[in-house]
Amino acid sequence: MANAKTAPGTTPEKSFTLTSNMTGESWDLPVLDSTAGPSVIDVRKLYDETDYFTYDPSFTSTGSCKSGLTFIDGDKGILMHRGYDIKELASKSSFLEVCYLLLNGELPKSAEMETFRKTITHHTMVHEQVHNFFRGFRRDAHPMAIMCGVVGALSAFYHDSLDIWDPRQREISAHRLIAKMPTLAAMAYKYSVGQPFVYPRNDLSYSENFLHMCFAVPAEDYKVNPICARAMDRIFILHADHEQNASTSTVRLAGSSQANPFACIAAGIACLWGPAHGGANQAVLEMLREIGTKDNIPDFIKRVKDKSDNTRLMGFGHRVYKNHDPRATVLRESCNEVLDALGVRNDPMLALAMELERIALEDEYFVSRKLFPNVDFYSGIILKAMGFPTSMFTVLFAVARTVGWISQWKEMIEEPQLRIGRPRQLYTGPAMRPYVPVDKRG
Ligand code: CMC
Repeated sequence: MANAKTAPGTTPEKSFTLTSNMTGESWDLPVLDSTAGPSVIDVRKLYDETDYFTYDPSFTSTGSCKSGLTFIDGDKGILMHRGYDIKELASKSSFLEVCYLLLNGELPKSAEMETFRKTITHHTMVHEQVHNFFRGFRRDAHPMAIMCGVVGALSAFYHDSLDIWDPRQREISAHRLIAKMPTLAAMAYKYSVGQPFVYPRNDLSYSENFLHMCFAVPAEDYKVNPICARAMDRIFILHADHEQNASTSTVRLAGSSQANPFACIAAGIACLWGPAHGGANQAVLEMLREIGTKDNIPDFIKRVKDKSDNTRLMGFGHRVYKNHDPRATVLRESCNEVLDALGVRNDPMLALAMELERIALEDEYFVSRKLFPNVDFYSGIILKAMGFPTSMFTVLFAVARTVGWISQWKEMIEEPQLRIGRPRQLYTGPAMRPYVPVDKRG
């Protein structure tokens, strides 16, 4: 394999030679370079030329697409969007500005930002008929069940933005989704607690408006705590996009069939719902409930270390980040700010979380395995402190990730070689056999 680097996306000069030890034949597979991270071996012609597929369940070694949105370096603990470090975005930017960046590729100039803000706020209300969808659900429905249904149903309301080949319609759908997700999420919450829906307030920022729709009631004035609004905005920024994770890949696969964007995002929400993906911050709170009091921490840690016990310290460790989770570093700061601002440092469950964090960060088992608190550990604590029930945690993740999903979808539709996604398989069922009539089956 030659060493010259090629610019991303240009004709490769490098190749990887594949040699069969069965026939002695060799094939040169092109190598494509990335801006950052590993190069990839282009296997698109592999089947045509060799009669073999690759086998990679769970896609741990497969680049499923080209993307210019987000990059993660798990060893260095780096996450960037469009080349900007997440830590810088979280401290200097706003969620709405990050939305613009992900959707359009560049940070907006002042006038562009103002237009974008007005456009998004213009779309925050949902069609009044959408309210009827909510009323069809039981009050104890999981809010993610409601979100799957209601977001998919948006395609029945906004026919004027469903032509995926029209760039303007794609843009309007993206704006509608970013604008309406907080409204729908807040409605799901209000419905579950039996309170009236609160309409959006376009004089508030994106995150202030969301908190207002969740926690205001018609009977009295509600003033959004600016520290909570800032923490909410940071949680949204930190969850906005994360490469080709399960839900993003789901959105892309659904979109590759040319399904409309609302249907694709509903598919992403369904995938996010699983505890192995968006449900981990809920699991942190459930673990804290299970531990109960500080006295039980040593026993719990013993169980976590015991190989014969499947207990894990939820909110610790990460599949990709192996040094630290840059999102957790940012949220730890917000977590302290929120606990102080709300005066809930003495809340027993939050105190328990802080004690668990202290012990785990010093314990040899966690230190040697590089198991540090991940983003879910702190987001769970912050959301609990703000008053969200655990069932809403994944919904808030979905609100934040919508911009990532729709930006990735848009990037895919704009790719000139868009083709339906169609993985192949390693068939392990029976070989062809004749049908036996029922009276002849032995
Ligand atoms: N508690 C106790 N031990 C752990 C944990 C944990 N949370 N995570 C990993 N380990 C141990 C594991 O048993 C193994 O020990 P040993 O070497 O003695 O066999 C060692 O650490 C290495 O683990 P691994 O197998 O490399 O970890 P993984 O990449 O398979 O798992 C993980 C990553 C996130 C699934 C796991 O750390 C975990 O289950 N964490 C708790 C759940 C959680 O918080 N998930 C949210 C992740 S952030 C969400 C996002 O980015 O979207």
